[in-house]
Order: sequence, then structure tokens, then C-alpha cells
Amino acid sequence: MKIEIGNTKPDHFATYWPEQYELFSHFEYACGIPSVLHTITTLKENGKPNVNFNFAASFTGDGDGYFAIVPLMQHSHTYQNIKRSGEFVINFVSKDYYDHCYDTITHNEEDTDELEAGGFHREAAKTVSCPRMQEAFLVLECKLEKELDLSGSGKAALLIGRVNHIAMEEKYAEGIDAKYDDNGFMQIIHAPKNLKTGEGQASAVAVCKVVRVNEEG
Ligand SMILES: Cc1cc2nc3c(=O)[nH]c(=O)nc-3n(C[C@H](O)[C@H](O)[C@H](O)COP(=O)(O)O)c2cc1C
Repeated sequence: MKIEIGNTKPDHFATYWPEQYELFSHFEYACGIPSVLHTITTLKENGKPNVNFNFAASFTGDGDGYFAIVPLMQHSHTYQNIKRSGEFVINFVSKDYYDHCYDTITHNEEDTDELEAGGFHREAAKTVSCPRMQEAFLVLECKLEKELDLSGSGKAALLIGRVNHIAMEEKYAEGIDAKYDDNGFMQIIHAPKNLKTGEGQASAVAVCKVVRVNEEG
């Protein structure tokens, strides 16, 4: 039997922090869909590096382009930096850097070099002026092409950036390899609820586990 949930937040869904359901839909906690964690690096107006720990971007395209589709809160510095410069870099680091990424959230002041605050090192990008994370095994250099106000309420925006250049660490560049083991893509399981009790606020960090390889693609 399936548990059905509609557009109205179920009454028994517990609230654990103010604005929990203003920032995220109850569907987010009901579905528990895992997402790949990454950071977005941009430059602040004063030239210092800004880092945004992000979990909701996706990556797709067609023969005429590959795109980073990035939901961002419009009040975030990253949103404002991208709107000003039209540029950003997506960085993928392994699970060992989770706490480092988190440190960039707690050091979010205008005067802070957020790469330094997270213990990361700056690496020059090839096609944009904002920096890459040296510790990332994969970086995507992007230029903003489109924007959408997701719910129409001015909270979350969807920014679509064209990927113009990527760089991959050599040992992650061999197909089905380290990208999908313990040191590869880090995922977040964002506070899935027990749908019967409405309780649960724990999130989890996960990695990929390859269960099958299709030789024919
Ligand atoms: C695990 C995790 C995932 C996050 N994912 C996002 C996200 O997808 N979008 C977003 O706008 N903020 C997300 N945040 C919150 C931002 O990282 C945080 O607000 C950050 O300080 C914003 O930085 P900025 O204002 O310099 O852009 C996430 C935080 C954590 C801990």
C-alpha cells in the first residue's frame, strides 16, 4: 500500500526549525530523493572568493550544449554574485571535505575569503574569472544563460549556466572509477521523514555504489 501525500502539508509533519516549510516544500521531506553535493564558487564584489555549499543542482543538455541547472535562494550571496558577473564554477569534492564545506557557511562575511575559511586552495579557472577549488576532483566552469523564479514568490531562483570548460583529476578520468567509490561524488539525503509519524529531521551523507556495469553503454 502506498502513502499518498498532496499539495497541503500533512498536519502530523513535525516542524523542527522556524521557516522550515517556507524554505522547503513538505514534498522535499516526504520524498527524500538523494542529490549530489557540490560547491559553487564565485567572486564577491570586493574580489574575495565566495563559496556556496549546494545540493540541488542537476546537469543535462543536448548536442548543442551541457548545462548546470542550479536552484539558489535569491537572498544568497552566490545568487547576487552570479547575477552581477554572469559566471560561476561548480566544484565536486569527496565526502572527506563535508566539514570543510560546512565551514564556508559559518564564515559567510563580506570580508572573508571563503575558500581559505574552508581550508581550500584557490585554483585559476580557464574561462571565467571566479576561482576553482584545487581540492575538487571535477570542476565545471559556467556562464549564466537563463533564470527562472521557481515558485514565483521571489525565494528560490533557477539559474541555468552553460558549461564551457571542465577539468577532472587524472585518477578520476578513467570512466567508471574513483568518481563512484568512497572518495567520489558525495550525496546528501535531506531529512526524509517517517511518513507515518511525520517525525524525523536527520540528514545523511552518502556515496555511490556501483551495482551493475553495462558494457554496451
Ligand atoms: C548540505 C547543505 C546543502 C545546501 N544546499 C543549498 C542549496 O542547494 N541551495 C542554496 O541556496 N543553499 C544551500 N545550502 C545553504 C547554503 O550553503 C548557505 O546558505 C550558504 O551560506 C550560502 O552562501 P552564500 O550566501 O555565500 O551564497 C546548503 C547547506 C548545506 C549544509
